[in-house]
Amino acid sequence: MTSEGSEGSLVGTIRQSPPLDLKAPYDPAWVKGKTFVITGGASGFGAAFLKKWAEHGANVVIGDINVKGGDELVRRIRNETGNQNLHFVHCDVTDWQSQVNFFKDAVKLSPHGGIDTVVANAGIAEPDMGFEIPAGLDSTDPPKPNLSTINVNLTGVLYTTHLALFWLARNPNSQPVSLSTSPASTPRDRHLLLVGSVASLGPFPGRALYAASKHGVCGLFRSLRSSTIVHGVRVNMLCPYFVNTPLITAPARLALAGAATGKIEDVVDAGTRFAADTRICGRGLVVGPKVKVEQREDGEWALVSKGGEDVAVWEPYADDYEECEVFTRRMIGLLNAATRARGWIGWFTDLFGVAGYMLKSWLRLQ
Ligand SMILES: NC(=O)c1ccc[n+]([C@@H]2O[C@H](COP(=O)([O-])OP(=O)(O)OC[C@H]3O[C@@H](n4cnc5c(N)ncnc54)[C@H](O)[C@@H]3O)[C@@H](O)[C@H]2O)c1
Repeated sequence: MTSEGSEGSLVGTIRQSPPLDLKAPYDPAWVKGKTFVITGGASGFGAAFLKKWAEHGANVVIGDINVKGGDELVRRIRNETGNQNLHFVHCDVTDWQSQVNFFKDAVKLSPHGGIDTVVANAGIAEPDMGFEIPAGLDSTDPPKPNLSTINVNLTGVLYTTHLALFWLARNPNSQPVSLSTSPASTPRDRHLLLVGSVASLGPFPGRALYAASKHGVCGLFRSLRSSTIVHGVRVNMLCPYFVNTPLITAPARLALAGAATGKIEDVVDAGTRFAADTRICGRGLVVGPKVKVEQREDGEWALVSKGGEDVAVWEPYADDYEECEVFTRRMIGLLNAATRARGWIGWFTDLFGVAGYMLKSWLRLQ
């Protein structure tokens, strides 16, 4: 295991802040005056983020395909909070041009002309048994699978990410992320919050496409957090367990009957910590049911009925990420060393090899 400052530590290089102390207080008011852009903001987590951040004086622009729901929600939260810097813009995350227009509108609507945090939140969880058990097995032409889950949850997030990296770096008066600057004195931010799922970390039988899309979000997060240094953007990821929002269909609710589920306020709390505390970078949080637990001597957590502490938010694989990144760095270091050892002779040898290969391919075509 590595920690900041230990030999081989990549924490600085990959822009990852130390594991989070979830008992440390943060001030939600640190979001005041900042501009937030949320995809899929008309319902569930997005709507709850909008309400919380609006209460604390943030400017929030939500984008969604649900025009009626989005419009009504923004009007209601404006009335409830008195915050007029809240807006709804139609956005279909699967449509590149729709997202381009959404970001342009958000920048125009932002009082300071920039975007501080983008939340890639829009998602669907449609049943995909048809994918796993294709109909028409007796036919020679299986039907084309419906990949709308991938289109919304992965392609949509990739479009959002691409646009976020473009606009966050252009946020006027923002600085590249600094892990030491006090959030209270950071008026502008550059932050991308990806909404994954526990299905980013493990399998989801019967919802293979959902799990594939959310694993994709996790891969995106783990890769970006070491490269967004170029844009000075901090990247974090939320991985909620089942939480009662309209995303959870009636059959899923039936299947979950009797099981403990997460609470939307815990998701909002974890998301607000990421949004408010500009020192947090490259971290993921799982939000599950609130359980009473105690840490044993071997480091494992055990459920207890008395005493202990109530915990709903966990940091998954915090050290695993560090070790994995160290492994990758060592592999790349070794490959680079091997390349250096081969030197110019190796380069010219390979170049002649490529030329020979191209010549042979060309001769084959004659
Ligand atoms: N609720 C859960 O149990 C749970 C658990 C883990 C992860 N998540 C993730 O959290 C995110 C938010 O989910 P939620 O629970 O708030 O669900 P929700 O259904 O309440 O909200 C999702 C929103 O996304 C919007 N949306 C759907 N397709 C869209 C598109 N093409 N373009 C723009 N907007 C679109 C919907 O209209 C809706 O307003 C999703 O990415 C979901 O996968 C949810």
